[in-house]
Amino acid sequence: MNDQPVPAESTERVPRKRPDQTGGPGSSQPTEPRPHDPTDAAAAIAPPAEDGTGGAPNPAGPPGPTELAPPRGTGDVLPPESWRWQAATRLAMDSFATAGYAPIETPIFEHTEVFERGVGVGSEVVGKEMYTFSDRGGRSLTLRPELTAPVMRAVLGHNLHRARLPVKLAYAGPMFRQERPQKGRYRQFSQVGIEAIGSMSPAIDAEVIEVGDRYLRDAGVEPTLLLNSIGHLDPGCRTGYLKLLTEYLVANRSALAPVDIERISLNPLRTFDSKESRTIEVMRRAPMITDHLCDDCRNHFDAVQSHLTKLDVSYTLDPHLVRGLDYYTRTAFEFTAGGLGSQNAVGGGGRYDGLAESLGGQHLPGIGFALGLDRILLSGFQTKDQSSPVAAYVVAIGSAAVEQALAIATHLRAAGIGADLDFLDRSVKGQMKDAARSGGRWAVIVGDEEIAGNNVTLKDLGTGEQETVALDKLEDRLKP
Ligand code: HAM
Repeated sequence: MNDQPVPAESTERVPRKRPDQTGGPGSSQPTEPRPHDPTDAAAAIAPPAEDGTGGAPNPAGPPGPTELAPPRGTGDVLPPESWRWQAATRLAMDSFATAGYAPIETPIFEHTEVFERGVGVGSEVVGKEMYTFSDRGGRSLTLRPELTAPVMRAVLGHNLHRARLPVKLAYAGPMFRQERPQKGRYRQFSQVGIEAIGSMSPAIDAEVIEVGDRYLRDAGVEPTLLLNSIGHLDPGCRTGYLKLLTEYLVANRSALAPVDIERISLNPLRTFDSKESRTIEVMRRAPMITDHLCDDCRNHFDAVQSHLTKLDVSYTLDPHLVRGLDYYTRTAFEFTAGGLGSQNAVGGGGRYDGLAESLGGQHLPGIGFALGLDRILLSGFQTKDQSSPVAAYVVAIGSAAVEQALAIATHLRAAGIGADLDFLDRSVKGQMKDAARSGGRWAVIVGDEEIAGNNVTLKDLGTGEQETVALDKLEDRLKP
């Protein structure tokens, strides 16, 4: 916000003094926690609040100009949390790139039919959770609830599959679903993910899963990988199985929870996802898809497992794992993590060999995953690369030094060293306090003496040690 109260010291108009003149030894040491202190990192976590309800109502109340809290289920990511956020995204995209996945950006909104045809009207995401609106031209548009269908649309629309197969793409960005907000479940949330399009090989299933697993481990999440195969739409495979399952569900209809009864006709596989204890009990004895796979799907699944074993990726077979989006075929998987409560899925994915055709394209198989960034951060993502990149704070003693301070900061930045300085005419004491808040390690102090001597006084804000450094050696001295 721009209208934050101005810090008290900024209004001080006292003459600027050297830091070592402001009191006894070490008086200019930071007394507040450094912004990059990891113990302080959680302090600035912004909404979405743990319960995902968004910020508190504007305490000012009417006649305030605007509601200052973001919409329910959404939130602002503020520093220092935003550094963690950015680091997690960068780590993902860099990690995906090492396996050949190139970044793709698609629009935040799409023609609604991309999701209706791609993800399927039978899915809860499309049936109940989309933010759909008509634009001024009367077109039905939808804020993307996921990115697999848009990525496939883009691949088909630009004929990427005519160049080199498989097409390997990676993405990071916001998605939108009108779900009931709670911890780890928001209406705007972020995903990072990859899609590998154009290969039927079980080896690529294993590659995709390994890339997701490795990123989660590098991000400090200890994931459990659940793996299943849900076959393909053929009377000798999933279609035949669905008939059996439907018969079983109809026979046990009275034992199912009422909310699950409508799933029998809409999407019988989803009964495996029910949170209702009555339904869970019924599903324990239900026929399993893995007992009804056709030979091709069975062989594919066996090969995926054998590749994963070779890659040392441990997995748990979960014959009840069915994914919530209709495009899945064969391999289906989910990564779960502890400490997240009921929203413990940090990511999921699978094969979607019929998606391209649903969108009106040719047969083009694919597999991918998306990971929920909000949940990765909630489950304790840490990296070294997560604090302010400001290394040096340039302190000007006296107004004549301001010009030199800005020139030094600009020079350091051009050399790739993060630098900041005062813009509120603070006293030297105020600048030293601000230096501590900036997250930088160094205070670079310039006054008349330093200007005359063509040097600076360099202070290590951690140890309090000071030294004089020639101006033309400063860049080398500050390089890590
Ligand atoms: P999904 O399982 O719907 O799959 O979402 C993937 C991940 O996004 C979830 O495991 C979860 O971590 C996160 N997520 C989903 N909804 C929310 C929410 N409301 N709030 C916070 N996080 C959420 C897909 O989206 C597929 N497109 C994945 C895929 C890619 N399949 C093949 N390729």
